[in-house]
Amino acid sequence: MKPKVFVTRPLPQRALDLLAGHCEVRVHPVDSGLRPSELGEACRDSEGMLAVGVRVDEEVLGQARKLRVVANCGVGYDHIDIAACTRRKIVVTNTPGVLTDTTADLAFVLLMAVARRVVEADRFVREGRWQHWEFGMLWGADVHHKTLGLWGFGRIGQAMARRGRGFDMKILYHSRRRADENLERVLGARFVDRETLLNESDFLSLHTPMTAETHHLIGAKELKLMKPSAFLINTARGKVVDEEALVAALKAKTIAGAGLDVFEHEPNLHPELTKLANVVLLPHVGSATGETRLAMAMLAAQNLLAVLEGRRPPNVVNAEVFD
Ligand code: DGY
Repeated sequence: MKPKVFVTRPLPQRALDLLAGHCEVRVHPVDSGLRPSELGEACRDSEGMLAVGVRVDEEVLGQARKLRVVANCGVGYDHIDIAACTRRKIVVTNTPGVLTDTTADLAFVLLMAVARRVVEADRFVREGRWQHWEFGMLWGADVHHKTLGLWGFGRIGQAMARRGRGFDMKILYHSRRRADENLERVLGARFVDRETLLNESDFLSLHTPMTAETHHLIGAKELKLMKPSAFLINTARGKVVDEEALVAALKAKTIAGAGLDVFEHEPNLHPELTKLANVVLLPHVGSATGETRLAMAMLAAQNLLAVLEGRRPPNVVNAEVFD
Protein backbone atom coordinates (compact mmCIF):
# COMPACT_ATOMS: atom_id res chain seq x y z
CA MET A 1 0.00 0.00 0.00
CA LYS A 2 1.29 3.47 -0.90
CA PRO A 3 1.94 5.85 2.02
CA LYS A 4 -0.48 8.76 2.39
CA VAL A 5 0.81 12.27 1.90
CA PHE A 6 -0.90 15.61 2.47
CA VAL A 7 0.19 18.68 0.48
CA THR A 8 -0.97 21.88 2.17
CA ARG A 9 -1.38 24.04 -0.97
CA PRO A 10 -1.62 23.48 -4.72
CA LEU A 11 1.86 22.92 -6.19
CA PRO A 12 3.27 22.69 -9.73
CA GLN A 13 1.98 19.51 -11.41
CA ARG A 14 5.50 18.10 -11.90
CA ALA A 15 6.05 17.97 -8.14
CA LEU A 16 2.61 16.42 -7.55
CA ASP A 17 3.27 13.84 -10.28
CA LEU A 18 6.56 12.92 -8.65
CA LEU A 19 4.79 12.32 -5.34
CA ALA A 20 1.89 10.50 -6.97
CA GLY A 21 4.31 7.96 -8.47
CA HIS A 22 5.09 6.75 -4.95
CA CYS A 23 2.33 7.94 -2.61
CA GLU A 24 -1.38 8.44 -2.24
CA VAL A 25 -1.52 12.22 -2.47
CA ARG A 26 -4.15 14.63 -1.20
CA VAL A 27 -3.74 18.33 -1.96
CA HIS A 28 -5.46 21.17 -0.11
CA PRO A 29 -7.06 22.83 -3.15
CA VAL A 30 -6.78 26.43 -1.98
CA ASP A 31 -3.62 28.57 -1.92
CA SER A 32 -4.15 29.88 1.60
CA GLY A 33 -3.05 28.76 5.05
CA LEU A 34 -4.83 26.10 7.09
CA ARG A 35 -5.56 26.60 10.79
CA PRO A 36 -3.66 24.15 13.07
CA SER A 37 -6.86 22.22 13.90
CA GLU A 38 -7.71 21.87 10.18
CA LEU A 39 -4.16 20.87 9.31
CA GLY A 40 -4.01 18.29 12.12
CA GLU A 41 -7.32 16.80 11.00
CA ALA A 42 -6.23 16.75 7.34
CA CYS A 43 -3.03 14.87 8.26
CA ARG A 44 -4.65 12.37 10.63
CA ASP A 45 -3.79 9.39 8.37
CA SER A 46 -0.77 10.88 6.59
CA GLU A 47 2.80 9.68 6.93
CA GLY A 48 4.10 12.70 5.07
CA MET A 49 3.22 16.38 5.00
CA LEU A 50 4.52 18.68 2.29
CA ALA A 51 4.22 21.94 4.20
CA VAL A 52 3.80 25.18 2.28
CA GLY A 53 3.15 28.27 4.39
CA VAL A 54 1.49 26.53 7.34
CA ARG A 55 2.27 26.54 11.04
CA VAL A 56 3.17 23.07 12.31
CA ASP A 57 2.89 23.05 16.10
CA GLU A 58 1.95 20.74 18.98
CA GLU A 59 -1.73 21.03 18.12
CA VAL A 60 -1.11 19.76 14.60
CA LEU A 61 1.31 17.04 15.65
CA GLY A 62 -1.02 15.86 18.42
CA GLN A 63 -3.59 14.94 15.77
CA ALA A 64 -1.25 13.85 12.98
CA ARG A 65 0.08 10.84 14.85
CA LYS A 66 1.26 8.87 11.82
CA LEU A 67 3.53 11.61 10.45
CA ARG A 68 7.10 10.57 9.68
CA VAL A 69 8.18 13.62 7.72
CA VAL A 70 7.34 17.31 7.43
CA ALA A 71 8.91 18.49 4.17
CA ASN A 72 8.92 22.28 4.25
CA CYS A 73 8.75 24.04 0.90
CA GLY A 74 11.00 26.94 1.86
CA VAL A 75 14.36 27.51 3.49
CA GLY A 76 13.14 29.19 6.72
CA TYR A 77 11.43 26.88 9.20
CA ASP A 78 10.57 29.17 12.11
CA HIS A 79 6.90 28.24 11.63
CA ILE A 80 7.64 24.59 12.44
CA ASP A 81 8.11 23.39 16.01
CA ILE A 82 11.35 21.50 15.36
CA ALA A 83 11.78 20.33 18.96
CA ALA A 84 8.27 18.86 18.99
CA CYS A 85 8.93 17.07 15.67
CA THR A 86 12.25 15.73 16.95
CA ARG A 87 10.62 14.38 20.14
CA ARG A 88 8.21 12.45 17.91
CA LYS A 89 11.02 11.30 15.60
CA ILE A 90 9.46 13.21 12.71
CA VAL A 91 12.07 14.27 10.15
CA VAL A 92 11.88 17.93 9.11
CA THR A 93 13.42 19.00 5.80
CA ASN A 94 13.72 22.34 3.98
CA THR A 95 14.76 23.64 0.56
CA PRO A 96 18.03 25.60 0.82
CA GLY A 97 20.18 26.41 -2.18
CA VAL A 98 17.54 26.52 -4.88
CA LEU A 99 16.21 29.95 -3.85
CA THR A 100 19.48 31.67 -2.94
CA ASP A 101 20.01 33.78 -6.07
CA THR A 102 16.33 34.53 -6.54
CA THR A 103 16.01 35.88 -3.01
CA ALA A 104 19.23 37.88 -3.32
CA ASP A 105 17.93 39.31 -6.61
CA LEU A 106 14.83 40.53 -4.81
CA ALA A 107 16.84 42.01 -1.94
CA PHE A 108 18.85 43.93 -4.52
CA VAL A 109 15.66 44.98 -6.30
CA LEU A 110 14.39 46.44 -3.03
CA LEU A 111 17.71 48.18 -2.44
CA MET A 112 17.68 49.77 -5.89
CA ALA A 113 13.98 50.59 -5.77
CA VAL A 114 14.10 52.40 -2.47
CA ALA A 115 17.38 54.20 -3.28
CA ARG A 116 16.16 55.44 -6.67
CA ARG A 117 12.53 55.95 -5.62
CA VAL A 118 11.32 53.67 -8.41
CA VAL A 119 7.88 52.98 -6.95
CA GLU A 120 7.25 56.63 -6.13
CA ALA A 121 8.37 57.64 -9.62
CA ASP A 122 6.13 55.05 -11.28
CA ARG A 123 3.16 56.33 -9.26
CA PHE A 124 4.08 59.90 -10.21
CA VAL A 125 3.87 59.05 -13.92
CA ARG A 126 0.72 56.92 -13.69
CA GLU A 127 -1.12 59.56 -11.72
CA GLY A 128 -0.47 62.11 -14.49
CA ARG A 129 1.58 64.33 -12.20
CA TRP A 130 4.50 64.54 -14.67
CA GLN A 131 3.88 67.91 -16.31
CA HIS A 132 7.42 68.86 -17.33
CA TRP A 133 10.97 67.68 -16.72
CA GLU A 134 12.52 69.20 -13.62
CA PHE A 135 16.14 69.20 -12.59
CA GLY A 136 15.15 68.68 -8.99
CA MET A 137 12.62 65.94 -9.64
CA LEU A 138 12.65 62.73 -7.58
CA TRP A 139 16.26 62.76 -6.47
CA GLY A 140 17.34 59.48 -5.01
CA ALA A 141 20.60 58.13 -3.62
CA ASP A 142 23.47 56.50 -5.49
CA VAL A 143 24.00 52.79 -5.01
CA HIS A 144 27.35 52.30 -6.75
CA HIS A 145 30.47 52.73 -4.60
CA LYS A 146 28.37 52.87 -1.42
CA THR A 147 28.79 50.54 1.55
CA LEU A 148 26.62 47.45 1.64
CA GLY A 149 26.29 45.96 5.12
CA LEU A 150 25.12 42.37 5.43
CA TRP A 151 23.82 41.08 8.73
CA GLY A 152 24.00 37.32 8.21
CA PHE A 153 26.48 35.82 5.78
CA GLY A 154 24.98 32.50 4.78
CA ARG A 155 24.10 31.57 1.22
CA ILE A 156 21.78 34.53 0.58
CA GLY A 157 24.02 37.06 2.35
CA GLN A 158 26.95 35.90 0.21
CA ALA A 159 24.86 36.09 -2.97
CA MET A 160 23.97 39.64 -1.98
CA ALA A 161 27.68 40.42 -1.55
CA ARG A 162 28.29 39.24 -5.13
CA ARG A 163 25.58 41.57 -6.38
CA GLY A 164 27.05 44.45 -4.40
CA ARG A 165 30.47 43.77 -5.91
CA GLY A 166 28.94 44.18 -9.35
CA PHE A 167 27.96 47.70 -8.33
CA ASP A 168 31.45 48.49 -6.98
CA MET A 169 30.12 48.56 -3.45
CA LYS A 170 32.25 48.16 -0.35
CA ILE A 171 31.03 45.02 1.43
CA LEU A 172 30.90 44.69 5.23
CA TYR A 173 29.28 41.82 7.06
CA HIS A 174 28.50 40.60 10.52
CA SER A 175 27.47 37.09 11.44
CA ARG A 176 27.71 34.68 14.35
CA ARG A 177 30.68 32.98 12.76
CA ARG A 178 33.30 34.67 10.65
CA ALA A 179 33.60 33.25 7.13
CA ASP A 180 36.91 31.76 6.06
CA GLU A 181 39.52 34.12 4.75
CA ASN A 182 39.42 32.75 1.24
CA LEU A 183 35.69 33.39 0.92
CA GLU A 184 36.12 36.89 2.34
CA ARG A 185 38.81 37.55 -0.25
CA VAL A 186 36.76 36.19 -3.15
CA LEU A 187 33.72 38.25 -2.15
CA GLY A 188 35.75 41.27 -1.10
CA ALA A 189 33.86 41.26 2.20
CA ARG A 190 35.17 42.48 5.56
CA PHE A 191 33.94 41.08 8.86
CA VAL A 192 33.01 43.82 11.35
CA ASP A 193 31.30 44.01 14.74
CA ARG A 194 27.63 44.99 15.04
CA GLU A 195 28.29 48.64 15.85
CA THR A 196 30.62 49.14 12.89
CA LEU A 197 28.11 47.47 10.58
CA LEU A 198 25.32 49.74 11.80
CA ASN A 199 27.49 52.89 11.76
CA GLU A 200 29.07 52.43 8.35
CA SER A 201 26.45 50.80 6.12
CA ASP A 202 24.69 52.91 3.52
CA PHE A 203 22.46 49.91 2.86
CA LEU A 204 21.96 47.37 5.64
CA SER A 205 20.50 44.13 4.34
CA LEU A 206 19.30 41.44 6.76
CA HIS A 207 20.00 37.77 6.05
CA THR A 208 19.65 36.03 9.40
CA PRO A 209 17.31 33.14 10.16
CA MET A 210 14.48 33.79 12.63
CA THR A 211 15.47 32.43 16.05
CA ALA A 212 15.05 33.51 19.66
CA GLU A 213 18.40 35.36 19.33
CA THR A 214 17.43 37.27 16.19
CA HIS A 215 14.00 38.43 17.42
CA HIS A 216 14.06 42.27 17.23
CA LEU A 217 17.72 42.23 16.30
CA ILE A 218 17.07 45.65 14.78
CA GLY A 219 15.33 47.85 17.33
CA ALA A 220 15.40 51.50 18.39
CA LYS A 221 18.98 51.23 19.69
CA GLU A 222 20.32 49.72 16.47
CA LEU A 223 18.38 52.12 14.24
CA LYS A 224 19.90 55.05 16.15
CA LEU A 225 23.36 53.79 15.22
CA MET A 226 22.56 53.92 11.49
CA LYS A 227 23.32 56.94 9.31
CA PRO A 228 20.41 59.29 8.55
CA SER A 229 21.18 58.58 4.88
CA ALA A 230 21.06 54.77 5.32
CA PHE A 231 18.46 52.31 4.07
CA LEU A 232 17.33 49.08 5.72
CA ILE A 233 16.49 46.08 3.52
CA ASN A 234 14.69 43.07 4.97
CA THR A 235 14.03 39.90 2.98
CA ALA A 236 14.75 37.61 5.95
CA ARG A 237 11.94 37.50 8.51
CA GLY A 238 9.70 40.32 9.74
CA LYS A 239 10.21 39.64 13.43
CA VAL A 240 13.94 40.30 13.08
CA VAL A 241 12.98 43.99 13.04
CA ASP A 242 11.00 45.83 15.72
CA GLU A 243 8.47 47.31 13.31
CA GLU A 244 7.26 49.95 15.78
CA ALA A 245 10.83 51.23 16.19
CA LEU A 246 11.38 51.13 12.42
CA VAL A 247 8.26 53.20 11.75
CA ALA A 248 9.38 55.75 14.35
CA ALA A 249 12.83 55.98 12.72
CA LEU A 250 11.36 56.32 9.22
CA LYS A 251 8.92 59.01 10.35
CA ALA A 252 11.62 60.92 12.19
CA LYS A 253 13.93 60.40 9.17
CA THR A 254 16.72 59.13 11.40
CA ILE A 255 17.19 56.64 8.57
CA ALA A 256 16.46 57.42 4.91
CA GLY A 257 14.19 54.55 3.98
CA ALA A 258 13.45 50.84 3.97
CA GLY A 259 12.76 48.08 1.49
CA LEU A 260 10.69 45.34 3.11
CA ASP A 261 9.53 41.98 1.80
CA VAL A 262 8.68 40.59 5.25
CA PHE A 263 6.73 41.97 8.19
CA GLU A 264 6.34 41.37 11.87
CA HIS A 265 2.69 40.28 11.69
CA GLU A 266 2.24 39.16 8.08
CA PRO A 267 0.05 39.76 6.22
CA ASN A 268 -0.87 42.64 8.53
CA LEU A 269 1.31 45.69 8.28
CA HIS A 270 1.98 48.37 10.82
CA PRO A 271 -0.73 50.94 9.90
CA GLU A 272 1.81 53.74 9.47
CA LEU A 273 3.99 51.86 6.98
CA THR A 274 1.70 52.26 4.00
CA LYS A 275 1.53 56.02 4.60
CA LEU A 276 5.28 56.49 4.26
CA ALA A 277 6.82 57.46 0.92
CA ASN A 278 10.33 56.34 1.89
CA VAL A 279 9.50 52.63 2.00
CA VAL A 280 8.98 49.96 -0.64
CA LEU A 281 6.67 47.17 0.52
CA LEU A 282 6.39 43.72 -1.04
CA PRO A 283 4.19 40.76 0.00
CA HIS A 284 6.91 38.19 0.95
CA VAL A 285 7.84 37.26 -2.61
CA GLY A 286 11.60 36.72 -2.18
CA SER A 287 11.58 33.33 -3.89
CA ALA A 288 8.55 33.92 -6.10
CA THR A 289 9.69 33.16 -9.64
CA GLY A 290 8.33 30.35 -11.76
CA GLU A 291 11.71 28.61 -11.99
CA THR A 292 12.49 28.84 -8.30
CA ARG A 293 9.06 27.90 -6.98
CA LEU A 294 9.16 24.79 -9.21
CA ALA A 295 12.66 23.94 -7.93
CA MET A 296 11.49 24.38 -4.33
CA ALA A 297 8.46 22.15 -4.86
CA MET A 298 10.56 19.45 -6.54
CA LEU A 299 13.17 19.52 -3.78
CA ALA A 300 10.53 19.37 -1.06
CA ALA A 301 8.94 16.38 -2.82
CA GLN A 302 12.34 14.65 -3.15
CA ASN A 303 13.06 15.22 0.54
CA LEU A 304 9.68 13.82 1.50
CA LEU A 305 10.02 10.72 -0.69
CA ALA A 306 13.50 10.00 0.63
CA VAL A 307 12.20 9.75 4.19
CA LEU A 308 9.21 7.63 3.25
CA GLU A 309 11.51 5.30 1.30
CA GLY A 310 13.91 4.96 4.24
CA ARG A 311 16.68 7.06 2.71
CA ARG A 312 18.37 10.07 4.31
CA PRO A 313 16.92 13.15 2.61
CA PRO A 314 19.23 15.74 1.04
CA ASN A 315 18.15 18.58 3.36
CA VAL A 316 17.52 17.49 6.94
CA VAL A 317 16.84 20.16 9.55
CA ASN A 318 16.78 17.91 12.65
CA ALA A 319 19.56 15.39 12.00
CA GLU A 320 19.21 14.16 15.64
CA VAL A 321 16.26 12.00 14.58
CA PHE A 322 18.70 9.72 12.77
CA ASP A 323 20.91 9.17 15.87
C1 DGY B 1 11.57 30.78 2.68
O1 DGY B 1 11.99 29.97 1.86
O2 DGY B 1 11.86 30.73 3.88
C2 DGY B 1 10.72 31.88 2.15
O3 DGY B 1 10.66 32.95 3.02
C3 DGY B 1 9.33 31.35 1.87
O4 DGY B 1 8.70 31.11 3.08
